[in-house]
Amino acid sequence: MTDNGPMLKVEDIHTYYGDSYVLQGLSLEIAEGQVMAVLGRNGMGKTTLIRSIIGFTKPRTGKVTFDGADITALQPHEIVKLGVALVPQGRRIFPSLTVMENLLLGEKEGSDDGGEEPWDMDRVLALFPRLKERLRNMGNQLSGGEQQMLAFARSLMTNPKMLLLDEPTEGLAPLLVRAMGETLSKLKESKLAILLVEQNMKFALASCDYVHVLNRGRVVHSSTPEELAANEEIKSRFLGV
Ligand SMILES: Nc1ncnc2c1ncn2[C@@H]1O[C@H](COP(=O)(O)OP(=O)(O)OP(=O)(O)O)[C@@H](O)[C@H]1O
Ligand SMILES: [Mg+2]
Repeated sequence: MTDNGPMLKVEDIHTYYGDSYVLQGLSLEIAEGQVMAVLGRNGMGKTTLIRSIIGFTKPRTGKVTFDGADITALQPHEIVKLGVALVPQGRRIFPSLTVMENLLLGEKEGSDDGGEEPWDMDRVLALFPRLKERLRNMGNQLSGGEQQMLAFARSLMTNPKMLLLDEPTEGLAPLLVRAMGETLSKLKESKLAILLVEQNMKFALASCDYVHVLNRGRVVHSSTPEELAANEEIKSRFLGV
């Protein structure tokens, strides 16, 4: 990474859908190896933040820097090539391909810097043992939770430097939410930077190093997870808990 700067730097972005003004001056930074959570209720702009970073919906003003490079004007496929992986909301996998085929489609060698062990089929299956048992099943034979695991596993196969996770626990049973948390904590030993966008506060706070709360396209609170857990006012005002 370039001179130990942050892996991702989002500076004062303003993002619109047509005339609809969604992200109203949002800034954040994620360091290598850091799990950054962004919490917010329905419609507050979490997915729009992810779309702004990966280039599907470009900010009208502001700047996004990834691994030292200004990516604000790049196309999504160029941003992905630099080492950003997205696990979109609603777990997109290929339903008519097997688990193995889904994973092979993600396979890509990362840039070889820092000598970290690369993600390959064996390493990914060790992290998601349930998928190992399902390798020959078609995507559409998997449960919702297994599909989420598969989408996650496939993104790792691209050997990214940063992972964008859009509500990975949405619609998952408690047991699978716990499994997802365990997966994230295992990933903490790697250098991966993770942006975790969530409505599930408990899950996000247990998994992240730092948290921002989003309300109507603005960051209204930033702290450690412990500080937010103890802040009843912010939780009730902006997260409805
Ligand atoms: N393609 C679009 N065109 C117009 N408005 C949109 C579009 N996508 C989202 N919006 C609006 O932008 C705002 C932010 O939406 P966004 O999807 O970023 O919210 P979110 O925080 O991800 O919500 P959720 O938790 O439900 O996924 C909402 O008011 C939404 O209606
Ligand atoms: Mg969303």
